[in-house]
Amino acid sequence: MRFQPFLMERMMSEFEQDVAYNLSESGVHPLPLRELLADRPDVMDRLWTTELGYPHVNGTPELRANIAALYDGAKAENVLVTVGAAEANYLSTRTLLSAGDEIVIMLPNYMQIWGIAKNHDLKIKAFHLLEEVGWAPDLAELEAVVTSDTKLIAVCNPNNPTGRVLTRTEMDRIVACAERVGA
Ligand SMILES: Cc1ncc(COP(=O)(O)O)c(C=O)c1O
Repeated sequence: MRFQPFLMERMMSEFEQDVAYNLSESGVHPLPLRELLADRPDVMDRLWTTELGYPHVNGTPELRANIAALYDGAKAENVLVTVGAAEANYLSTRTLLSAGDEIVIMLPNYMQIWGIAKNHDLKIKAFHLLEEVGWAPDLAELEAVVTSDTKLIAVCNPNNPTGRVLTRTEMDRIVACAERVGA
């Protein structure tokens, strides 16, 4: 099988640190830690005394409890801390799906999950965001492509690259589509 590289991240890895003007950057200029914690010397003290050993590999209990507090009904034991969204995407796609399973992906997209799907022989289907309606999702297309074989619907929200944020109604319709087939 031919390996599908993650083309966008490869391009960034090869060029983004060496060019004078990086037109592919989508973030804002990064804040230095000193500025972020200017009013919190207590936090700086905790940082200085942090031991660089093996921590809890699933996230420290304090971090997991703080993350759980952001979600209704969640507890620390429902939270697994990963090294960025990329690792979370990888783990969830690889643990929920096996070769031959059907995945429906929102396009245009950052394309990480699409690449994982290619490399692990998933059956890929797509639904699109439509430029002519401000990059709103084509929910009729989603409803048509989702079948009883669909195991996962992958959405990218806020969308990379368009920046489109799904409305509550759109999210409800996507969830209803997934519920209809147990995805
Ligand atoms: C849509 C999307 N998913 C995942 C990632 C990767 O996130 P992280 O750096 O937290 O691993 C990015 C990074 O730009 C992204 O745009």
